[in-house]
Amino acid sequence: MILVLIGAPGAGKGTQADLLVATQGWHKISTGDALRKQIAKRTAVGLEAEGYVKAGRLVPDAVLWGVLQEELQAHAGAKILLDGFPRNIQQAEALQALPALFAVRAVAHLDVPEEDLYERLVGRRVCQGCGASYHVHKRPPQSEHSCDHCGGALLLRSDDQPEKIKVRLAIYEADTKPVLDFYKRCGLYHRIDGRGDTEAVAAQLSAFAASF
Ligand code: AP5
Repeated sequence: MILVLIGAPGAGKGTQADLLVATQGWHKISTGDALRKQIAKRTAVGLEAEGYVKAGRLVPDAVLWGVLQEELQAHAGAKILLDGFPRNIQQAEALQALPALFAVRAVAHLDVPEEDLYERLVGRRVCQGCGASYHVHKRPPQSEHSCDHCGGALLLRSDDQPEKIKVRLAIYEADTKPVLDFYKRCGLYHRIDGRGDTEAVAAQLSAFAASF
């Protein structure tokens, strides 16, 4: 069973998914995290995906699909929280065609206005050691350059540079927004107001997710 978490770059998908994993026992699959792991390990998939991820463009479906299927099979039967997939209509249709074990039960859309997204992304810093995510103003680490959990270096993601953010937001508008209408037609869509602070958004999402 799958709960899809969908939203623009910087909408808070990763932040909220981690909270739901901690509080409700969901298993998170993030296609962005999976691709970054493949890139770090220099696998064949990682080498193919790297240029697209760094440029802020969508990785071709054929490259990503194998990675996703492997992750899904490894957690078949779990309550899966899917972060970052689908991002276009073809991906949404491919997901709907999977066996009942991987049926999409609902889609939670973290809705955040574009003017907030840019500020969230340029302020994000990610730990190179454990992957923990911070924000320079809204969720600052205790020490400016090192992770509170593991002491790793905190860096700006390569696709969080201003010109890459513009590309990612444009792709969201063109390719991913139609997926919202796809799920509305399927009767699976649920809007979450993503504008409040992290706790306020988490309260809405956890109330919704608890019903599955
Ligand atoms: P991915 O890693 O999925 O990137 P994304 O969708 O652009 O999302 P982000 O991780 O940037 O943001 P988020 O919504 O998780 O926000 P976060 O919680 O971190 O994908 C990266 C790349 O991989 C893609 O560009 C593409 O190349 C490839 N890829 C992945 N999936 C693919 C697919 N299906 N098909 C093809 N290619 C694919 O929060 C952001 C910041 O805001 C943080 O600093 C956080 O602290 C802060 N924040 C969070 N919540 C709040 C709040 N409520 N108030 C204030 N600040 C907040």
